[in-house]
Amino acid sequence: MSENKNDILVQVDHLKKYFPVKGLKGPGVQAVEDVSLFIRRGETLGLVGESGCGKTTLGRTILQLHNPTSGKIVYDGETIFEGEDPWQADGEGRMVHVKVPKPQQVNMLPYRRKMQIIFQDPSASLDPRMTVGEIIGEALDIHKLWTSKAERTERIKELLGHVGLNTEHANRYPHEFSGGQQQRVGIARALAVRPEFIVCDEPISALDVSIQSQVVNMLEDMQQEMGLTYLFIAHDLSVVRHISSRIGVMYLGTMVELAESYELNREPLHPYTKTLLSAVPVPDPEVSRSRQRIVLEGDIPSPMNPPTGCRFHTRCPYATEKCKQAVPEFKEYGPDHWAACHLLG
Ligand SMILES: Nc1ncnc2c1ncn2[C@@H]1O[C@H](COP(=O)(O)OP(=O)(O)O)[C@@H](O)[C@H]1O
Ligand code: SF4
Ligand SMILES: [Mg+2]
Repeated sequence: MSENKNDILVQVDHLKKYFPVKGLKGPGVQAVEDVSLFIRRGETLGLVGESGCGKTTLGRTILQLHNPTSGKIVYDGETIFEGEDPWQADGEGRMVHVKVPKPQQVNMLPYRRKMQIIFQDPSASLDPRMTVGEIIGEALDIHKLWTSKAERTERIKELLGHVGLNTEHANRYPHEFSGGQQQRVGIARALAVRPEFIVCDEPISALDVSIQSQVVNMLEDMQQEMGLTYLFIAHDLSVVRHISSRIGVMYLGTMVELAESYELNREPLHPYTKTLLSAVPVPDPEVSRSRQRIVLEGDIPSPMNPPTGCRFHTRCPYATEKCKQAVPEFKEYGPDHWAACHLLG
């Protein structure tokens, strides 16, 4: 998956992330399975899928907060990770570990500044023993982003102002703030280092509904002002469809569809995307009537023991024998519209 190199900030090819499980032979939790995507400079790529489908793991693996199992990650034209897959199927379809060359990895420190993350649960991501000023200051210190104490203090003030807090808040501790204010602190900390790319990991799902749109609007304003690129994770489509230029849909570790936001809403190709969309309320009664609500049967299988072939086959109403055996290829079916399903040919 690639196009004009200069437009692309982040590119991911065939990325896998498995978490070994103690005492268990085999690959363990197959949390991210062969995901490819790119993110253009200045755009928001939305990422949706049910809880446990691997969204957080994908975001964190791109940032290399988790060591990737295999695949390739390119950031701003530089390959920051490339490794061969050590897990191969034997004659009976069992996954066996084979010897592969050591993956190529760059020193991530310079990239840590450029690539940031905003967490889902702001209270858990802020150190309760540090004041807000210390939390933001620490980010500046790690990357040596000041030359005098006065400049450091000024920058903390400026960042607090940016996220709608004031100078006096710098001396307070996280527990003295509401959830929305804590998330503002998390955003100020991410912005402190002047990043280019931010993984926003469900930044509003732990917040009161009444302030969710304020935080989303703030993130959008920051993006405009600073030319930021976002990977915006959410568990349902209604949050991301307004703010994303393109949307990726994940199911059980795999990317099943990726398309322009408008196109994905108008003409979803993958059966799983169709079920997700059928659950989103549509204001237009005509569209609403024509859109049947599809309810999936059965539970999500475990990523420790995922179904063979298409991982969605145990719940897909259209599954055939082929779906149980062959993994559908993730292919481009229209301009910028990718999907993985045997039905599409
Ligand atoms: N550090 C970890 N160790 C082992 N398994 C993990 C770890 N992090 C996530 N997982 C597992 O990986 C799968 C995907 O999790 P996650 O990426 O958190 O999903 P999502 O963000 O979509 O809810 C889940 O089965 C989860 O239990
Ligand atoms: S490949 Fe088969 S099981 Fe998978 S989504 Fe398509 S029709 Fe359903
Ligand atoms: Mg998550």
